[in-house]
Amino acid sequence: MAVTDGKVSLKHLVTMETLSNEEVLGLIKRGSDFKRNQADFRLDRQYFASNLFFESSTRTHKSFEVAEKKLGLDVIEFDAKSSSVNKGETLYDTILTMSALGVDICVVRHSDEDYYQELVDSRSIQTSIINGGDGSGQHPSQCLLDLMTIYEEFGQFENLKIAIAGDITHSRVAKSNMQILKRLGADLYFAGPREWYSEEFDVYGNHVALDDIIEDLDVLMLLRVQHERHDGSTSFSKEGYNKTYGLTEERYQKLKDSAIVMHPAPVNRDVEIDDDLVEAPKSRIVAQMQNGVYVRMAIIEAILNGKA
Ligand code: CP
Repeated sequence: MAVTDGKVSLKHLVTMETLSNEEVLGLIKRGSDFKRNQADFRLDRQYFASNLFFESSTRTHKSFEVAEKKLGLDVIEFDAKSSSVNKGETLYDTILTMSALGVDICVVRHSDEDYYQELVDSRSIQTSIINGGDGSGQHPSQCLLDLMTIYEEFGQFENLKIAIAGDITHSRVAKSNMQILKRLGADLYFAGPREWYSEEFDVYGNHVALDDIIEDLDVLMLLRVQHERHDGSTSFSKEGYNKTYGLTEERYQKLKDSAIVMHPAPVNRDVEIDDDLVEAPKSRIVAQMQNGVYVRMAIIEAILNGKA
C-alpha cells in the first residue's frame, strides 16, 4: 500500500487499521473528485469484478455495482443461493475459483469475522479482496463514505465532537469508525445501552448519556439496532429505546445548527431516529448513500493502481 503523487495504491482493502491517514485522506479526496466529475480515469485493459454477498445488503452491494459500472469494469454476477456454496464449497474455494477465472476484484460480505485473512494470505489467490463487512468486525467502505461525508461538511476531523450512539458491540461500522476517527484527531463519545457497549472501547472515547452531550456535538452517528446479532437475552421495546436513546424531535432541536446526523442505514424508523427526521435538514443519511458510490469508485481505482 502506498500514496505516490497523491495516488493511492492498494492490494486489498479489508480493514481500516492498515490504512495510513494519508491513504484515508487520499481516498476521500478522490471520492470527492469523482463526485464533482473531476477525476480523469481510464482503464488500461479489461477488468472483472464480482460482488459476493453472503449476508443481506442493499447499499453496499448495489453501490459497489454502480461504482464498478461507472468505472467501466465488467461485473460478474454471483448469487450465493444458486452457487456451489450450496454443495458445500468453502469461501476459500469460491474465491480461488474467481481468481482462476481471472476476476480482478472480489467484494465480499460474510458473517464470519476476519473471514478475509486466509484469502489475503493465500499465495494462490490473485484476486484483490474488498471487505464489504465481516460479521461484527469491520466495514471499511462504509467508514470511508462516513469520513467523506464528515469531511465535506467540516473540511477536517481535528477536535470535532462526534458521538457514536446505539448498538456499538455488534456494529462493524462503529468499530471501523472509532479507530480511525480517534487517529484523525476527533473527540469521541459513545452513547446507548450499556449492555451494548464494551470497556475495550474506552481507549477511543467516553460512554455518556446522549442528553449530557447533545448540545455540544458536531456529528451524531446513530447505529442500527442489530436484532440479527442479538441472542434475545436483553429486553427491548421500540418505544422505550427511542425515548431513552433515539433521536427524537426534542433532541434534534437541541443539536447545534451546524451539527449533522448520520446513520449507516438501513434505518429502523421511530427506533434509532424519528420517522420525520430521516430526511430533516441536519440529516446526511441520503448524502451518505450518495457518497458511497463515489468513495467506492476511489477504492476500486486504488486497487487498480495497485495492479498497474
Ligand atoms: N450500511 C450498509 O452496510 O447497508 P447495507 O447492509 O444495505 O449494505
